[in-house]
Amino acid sequence: MNEEQARQSIEHLRAELKRYSDAYYLDDAPLIPDHEFDRLLHELQALEQQWPQFDDADSPTQRVGGSVAARFTPVRHAAPLLSLENAFDEMDLKAFWQRLGKAGVSNTSLLVEPKMDGLSLSISYRNGRYAAAATRGDGTMGEDVSWGVKAIKSLPKRLKRSDIPLLTIRGEAYMPKQVFAALNREREENGEPLFANPRNAASGSIRQLDAQVIADRKLQIFFYDIIASEGISVSTQEDLLSLLEELGLPVNPERRLCHSISEVLDYLAEMTEKRHALDYDIDGMVIKLNDIAERADLGSTIKFPRWAIAYKFPPEQAETVVEDIVIGVGRTGAMTPTACLKPVFLAGSTISRATLHNEDNIRDKDIRIGDHVMIQKAGDVIPEVVRVCKDKRDGSERLFIMPQVCPVCGQPAVRPEGEAAWRCQNTHCPARVFEQVLHFAAKKAMDIDGLGPAVVRQLLDAGLIADVADLYHLKQEDLLPLERVGEKSAANLVAAIAASKQNS
Ligand code: IVH
Repeated sequence: MNEEQARQSIEHLRAELKRYSDAYYLDDAPLIPDHEFDRLLHELQALEQQWPQFDDADSPTQRVGGSVAARFTPVRHAAPLLSLENAFDEMDLKAFWQRLGKAGVSNTSLLVEPKMDGLSLSISYRNGRYAAAATRGDGTMGEDVSWGVKAIKSLPKRLKRSDIPLLTIRGEAYMPKQVFAALNREREENGEPLFANPRNAASGSIRQLDAQVIADRKLQIFFYDIIASEGISVSTQEDLLSLLEELGLPVNPERRLCHSISEVLDYLAEMTEKRHALDYDIDGMVIKLNDIAERADLGSTIKFPRWAIAYKFPPEQAETVVEDIVIGVGRTGAMTPTACLKPVFLAGSTISRATLHNEDNIRDKDIRIGDHVMIQKAGDVIPEVVRVCKDKRDGSERLFIMPQVCPVCGQPAVRPEGEAAWRCQNTHCPARVFEQVLHFAAKKAMDIDGLGPAVVRQLLDAGLIADVADLYHLKQEDLLPLERVGEKSAANLVAAIAASKQNS
C-alpha cells in the first residue's frame, strides 16, 4: 500500500465507522454487528499507527463512545464516564494481572461482575431524592434524559437515607429478555420496525416522550459505580456495592470476589454457562481491582481505567445446513434473501432462519443451498451466516441465483446502480401493497388500531382493498364475512380508520 492508498483507506474507514456509530448511538438502529464494527475499528487503528501523518483528533479511534444526539440537552458529566479495555481470552486476562503486578499491586483481590448489555446512565440523587439522569454520550458530555428515566418504575425515586447531599452513580438500564421478546412481537403485529436487541430497545425507550410508554417497557437498572458524592466514602468495590444496596438501589446480586486469576477464570467459565439462564443480556464480565486506594496507583488512559478490564464472551456459533434460500419482498420492493436452516439450538433458542442481507453477501461468502454453515446471533438476537464449512461439500450443493423477477408478482426486478438490493418495480405487487398497508397503519404512522398483518391479509385476499386509499371506503358490513371478525371488531376497525383522518 502506498501513501495515497493508505490515506484513501483511512478516510473511507473513518466515514464508514462514523456512519455505523451514528446509526448505533443516535438512531438506535445498528447497521452491522458489534464484532464487525470492532474489526473495522482495529483495521483503522492499525493503519493510523502505520501512517501517523494522517492523524486526526476527529477520528472514530479518538472518541470514547457515541456522540451526543441533537434532540436532548447536552450535559457535562462530573467526571468522565470511562469505557473499558476488552479482554477476549485467558492470555489477555493474565497480561492484565501481570500489569497490575508490575505497577506494584500484587496480593490483591478482584471483584468480578456481569457486564450488562444495556444503556449506560449517570443518575444523581440530592438529599436522597432523584434529581437528574444523563446518558453516557461520548463519556464527557451526555444527554439529559432526566424526564424519561424518571418514568422507569423500578428506579427508586428516594434513597433509604436522606442525609447524603449528593450521590451521582453510574448504572446500566436494561430491558429483560421476556419484555423484549413481547415488545418485538407486538411491533411485528403492528407492522413497526423491530428492535435489533434489548440494548437498542432500552435506549429507544428512554428517549420516548410518553411516560406511559416508558413505564410499559418495564426497564430495570443495575448500578455499579459512584461518580461523585458528598458525605460518604467507601474503600472497596465490595463496600461500594453493599452501600448502594443499603440505600435501596438495585445492584446485580451476581458477583464474586476473587483472589487470583485462576479464581477469576473459574468464575468466567461458570458464567459463560449460566448467562443464558439470566433474564437479561450480558455480553461479558467486568474484572475490577477491589481496593479503591490501589486504583489510584494505576490511573487511567484517556479512555480506560488501568485497574479494570472487560472480558467479552466469544460469539456463540453453531453449525447447521442451509435447506433453502427464499426471498422476502418489502414495502419499497427490496428483495431480501433469507436462509431456511435445519433447526439448531443456539444461545438459548432454536434457530431456523438467518438473514443473508443481499446478493453480494451470498456471493462474497459463497453460500449455496445444501451448504453446512456456521451461524451466530448478531447482537445476540438476529441470526446470520458467518461462513461456509467448505470441507463438508459433497458436490450436491446448488448455487443460488438472485431472481431477476419478483418471486411474488413475477414482474421484472432491477438492482439500481450503487445499491445492494434488487427491487421489484411493480408498484401494485401484492407483497409490496401488503407491507405498505401495514406500514401505513403502524403506530408511528396512521396508528390504526386493529389493522395488523392477519386483517390486512384478509382484506387484500377478499379483494376489499387494493391500496391504502380503499381503507377509507370500508363499511362495517364489508368486514363481517371475514374470519374471526365480529360485529364489534368490525365496528371498531371502521371507527379506527375514520379516526385516523384526524391525524396531522
Ligand atoms: S465499569 C470506569 N461495570 O460496559 C468504570 N461497566 O465497555 C467503567 N458496563 O460503558 C465501567 N456493566 O456501560 C462497568 N458491571 C459493569 C458494567 C459496565 C456494563 C458497560 C458500561 C461501559 C461498558 C464498557
